[in-house]
Amino acid sequence: MKLEFPKGFWWGAATSGPQSEGRFNKEHANVFDYWYDIEPEAFYNQVGPNVASNFYNSYKEDIRLMKEVGLNSVRTSIQWTRLMDDLEAGTINEQNVQFYNDVIDEFIANGIRPVINLHHFDLPVELYHKYGGWESKHVVELFVKFAEKCFELFSDRVTDWFTFNEPMVVVEGEYLHQFHYPNLVDGKKAVQVAYNIQLASSKAIASFRKINQNPEGKIGIILNLTPAYPASNAEGDLKASKFADLWLNQLYMNASALGEFPAELVAVLEKDQVLWSATEEELTIIRENTIDYLGVNFYHPHRVKAPDVSADSLAVDWLPEKYFDEYEMPGRRMNVDKGWEIYPKAVYDIAINIRDNYNNIEWFISENGMGVSREERYLNEQGMIEDDYRIQFIEEHLYWLHQGIEEGSNCFGYHLWTPIDCWSWKNAYRNRYGFISTDIRTQKKTIKKSGHWFKEVAATDTLDMTTEVR
Ligand code: BG6
Repeated sequence: MKLEFPKGFWWGAATSGPQSEGRFNKEHANVFDYWYDIEPEAFYNQVGPNVASNFYNSYKEDIRLMKEVGLNSVRTSIQWTRLMDDLEAGTINEQNVQFYNDVIDEFIANGIRPVINLHHFDLPVELYHKYGGWESKHVVELFVKFAEKCFELFSDRVTDWFTFNEPMVVVEGEYLHQFHYPNLVDGKKAVQVAYNIQLASSKAIASFRKINQNPEGKIGIILNLTPAYPASNAEGDLKASKFADLWLNQLYMNASALGEFPAELVAVLEKDQVLWSATEEELTIIRENTIDYLGVNFYHPHRVKAPDVSADSLAVDWLPEKYFDEYEMPGRRMNVDKGWEIYPKAVYDIAINIRDNYNNIEWFISENGMGVSREERYLNEQGMIEDDYRIQFIEEHLYWLHQGIEEGSNCFGYHLWTPIDCWSWKNAYRNRYGFISTDIRTQKKTIKKSGHWFKEVAATDTLDMTTEVR
């Protein structure tokens, strides 16, 4: 079966500054840099972000390899902690401006569209220590200063911008589930942080509209828009799924794409006395500065059920999880290495949701991928990793994406996480996702079987399915 994708489709991959560059020549530390400095044992094999995949030093060779696997677009992020000199004054580090200029020019010279994101989990840690990080509206203003510098410096060549990667993961990691420094559990703060990040995104978009130098320029946000499937049709499970969807998906999706937070969510937060503090002026900024397009990261679905314990028995004051529990569906198909369910059809459900509930806004899959550990198990005699499981994974997701496009969803691209195996936060290099492998001792990079396979798909805009879709 051959599936044709629209001409001009983005065939690419995504990484981020903090996960690929390494900390070379950076004046500031982000929350992960700092966490590693004070507690290296929290990271898999005690491997931190200091070298990552060495992109700071090897970007020319790395981009050449990305070209070799046929990518026509690549997302990375500009690190706030690298670009800026004085965070308060909004002055820049000239040497690092040069670095990002060189990277952008190198992408363009290789025929690769640079897609630039501004925040990928990398809050400068000093802003947490001084102001409480995203709890503070002053930090929102400092982020906007950084964003404005990026638009001034690079929007002559960069046409594709995104404000935040997965803001809900920042909320969960920093304030609910303890996987991002400062590892707090504080539902009330989490709600304010969720709001402040939306405000920062909308304010950055407002600045973009004034500063952008390129008539083709567009700006959006990257969301992990994951369906929250109910465990059953029982009323409690349906209610749980409804709230999970409001909190995990609609909060950012509605505010970013439609300019309004979902009224049902606001009502619950108000009733529980945890609603964010917002001014009319801020809400107007959010209303008037919606996104041009959207990136969707999809790895695994959420399955939820009615909570087991009553909300009142929770030890802490308020948590969104008082309204839903995660549900492990019997017989679910798993990527055991990462511990995530594999459910490609969710991509179709996402496509239809965007078509029907969000004015069929333009969107792309900005991350999808399969993290596999010890991939050297699959090395062949020529030294290439034969990652057929990854090819199958991509095919199945593309199949359902294609189905969504056929039914009118306005999707313009697919990016794998990630072009070159990169550093994955607490998991460090445990799970590998790339089209290209990295030997972290030597930094030798080698194209995997999936990279060679993807080149053909990208060159022809056609997927010749070898996998039976499940
Ligand atoms: C996404 C993030 O949520 O998942 C990436 O945007 C991350 O930064 C990716 O690396 C894979 O998850 P993990 O935890 O295996 O690195």
